[in-house]
Amino acid sequence: MKTIYFVTGNVGKMQEVKKLCEGAGIHIQQVEYPYPELQCDDMEEIARHGAQDAANHLGKRIIVEDAGLFISALNGFPGPYSSYVFKTLGNEGILKLMAGIKNRKACFKSVVGYCEPNGEAVTFSGAVDGEIAREIKGEHGFGYDPIFIHDGKTFGELTTEEKNKVSHRYGALKKFIEWFNTCDKKIFN
Ligand code: IMP
Repeated sequence: MKTIYFVTGNVGKMQEVKKLCEGAGIHIQQVEYPYPELQCDDMEEIARHGAQDAANHLGKRIIVEDAGLFISALNGFPGPYSSYVFKTLGNEGILKLMAGIKNRKACFKSVVGYCEPNGEAVTFSGAVDGEIAREIKGEHGFGYDPIFIHDGKTFGELTTEEKNKVSHRYGALKKFIEWFNTCDKKIFN
């Protein structure tokens, strides 16, 4: 199996990415490397820059993944600032911000960045629509999963396998896997 190194400290993401990629014949190895996250609104630019930096620094084939929650009634907030907002406000803080707001529409976006040492980074994106719940629900997943409803259930109520059939990360990785597995320019070990 071909090995790709996934730069992340997030165990939940690792579990999802590993299951999706290994089902497609790609072995995923976690590596922790604190790549500098660009301070900008463009998730593709953040992923491209992160993948390039990590691939060159570690000398390995790398993927990074950047995700965010975009809430319509809050003009896309927290968006690219999802990580900081989760740490500071958390799910309860988001529910408070949404108190009394009827429009609960939201979407998750994911961008996967792939790069080889001294190569050009490429990116793949995915998204899933849903709604912000009125209460925290579900024991599975991580981050905003227990407040994001898709098809009647929060992501927190889904197993990894169930979430992996519909999620933003699945959408981005599906494109990446198709590209990676058919790209005959690459020389694999
Ligand atoms: P990042 O991609 O690790 O920067 O994620 C930004 C924030 O969104 C973090 O607080 C994550 O926990 C959260 N997040 C990312 N992906 C997901 C997801 O699939 N479900 C729920 N929360 C997520």
